[in-house]
Amino acid sequence: NKVVLAYSGGLDTSVIVRWLQDNYACEVVTFTADIGQGEEVAPARAKAEALGVKEIYIDDLREEFVRDFVFPMFRANTVYEGEYLLGTSIARPLIAKRLIEIANETGADAISHGATGKGNDQVRFELGAYALKPGIKVIAPWREWNLTSRETLMAYCEERDIPVDFSKSKKKSPYSMDANLLHISYEGGILEDPWAEAEEDMWRWSVSPEAAPDTPTYIELDFERGDITAIDGERLSPATVLERLNKVGGANGIGRLDLVENRYVGMKSRGCYETPGGTIMLKAHRAIESLTLDREVAHLKDELMPRYAEIIYNGYWWSPERQMLQAAIDQTQASVNGKVRLKLYKGNVILAGRQSADSLFDDAIATFEDDAGAYNQKDAEGFIKLNALRMRIAANKGRTLF
Ligand code: ARG
Ligand code: SIN
Repeated sequence: NKVVLAYSGGLDTSVIVRWLQDNYACEVVTFTADIGQGEEVAPARAKAEALGVKEIYIDDLREEFVRDFVFPMFRANTVYEGEYLLGTSIARPLIAKRLIEIANETGADAISHGATGKGNDQVRFELGAYALKPGIKVIAPWREWNLTSRETLMAYCEERDIPVDFSKSKKKSPYSMDANLLHISYEGGILEDPWAEAEEDMWRWSVSPEAAPDTPTYIELDFERGDITAIDGERLSPATVLERLNKVGGANGIGRLDLVENRYVGMKSRGCYETPGGTIMLKAHRAIESLTLDREVAHLKDELMPRYAEIIYNGYWWSPERQMLQAAIDQTQASVNGKVRLKLYKGNVILAGRQSADSLFDDAIATFEDDAGAYNQKDAEGFIKLNALRMRIAANKGRTLF
């Protein structure tokens, strides 16, 4: 039997390769993806080879990640618990999908991952895997083994001859981190005290707002059906859009978050996130929708959004309810076309302008000047009176409110 492992090339997943070979006596297939984490994926090949792996998959999934996962999510203006832009959550369903594709290609009957038994990631990987291949077996070493500290992991490496370059050369970050084109996250270390402020040198993608330039940066974003297709008039692929926005956002101190969130398994956890491009996209998308969406559609979308965010956070991307919501959201985006102009300044994303050929904004009606009969102010009298009717009846009957 054979198992496909989501392999980063790091210490933990290298130990997992050997552990699977030892404990399950199985052939391990490794899968390493570039989803924009900013680390070379090519070295994963030599590392896997050194561990005796024969089938090694290394994929560049950056465009697919942004086109089919990040962009569809941003069409809904998705935010979890009012703050979190779901950078890790949205990458897991893609990894799950690819693990299953590779299992099918290689004839593997199991998948494995390096997520712990305490977190959300295990749920996301496994719900996705079961949804896409009901008979798949899942091996989650962190829920089984007793290698619970860095020391025991390194001892296992030495004992089992696992070649990893965790030596002096590489300074190990004190945080549990996860990065892709949408965000980088930090958990653990001093962050386990919710009162402790993150150290300035923890942040990798952005300058602090204090250190950002004193002159603002203006950018123009083109939208087509709710997705950004160009920056400053230059047409760009989805992954390139996000890459560029991360750069300009990070340089202006945009997108830092520090929050305590509710994990699906029931515990609260503290995390810090940098999502510069995503923070810009969210603001810009809301701005173009403000011009182009019907009020009731926009409001209904906003009511559904927290539910949609929870679905993604909890790992139900590959579920019928997510598909249902996605169809509704996508249907609303046909008119979400146009241009947004933004001013980026010291951690802020400030709206400077918006325009659209599909705009519902009618200046002939909205004007504070003479509207030449476009709107009859007398109509408002009956509108208000009928809306007040039930309250007038109640008051007449002596219902007191306060
Ligand atoms: N708490 C965030 C989430 O559940 C980030 C998880 C980070 N994952 C990691 N393997 N470090 O989406
Ligand atoms: C993990 O437990 O592997 C990371 C944190 C999470 O999944 O929430």
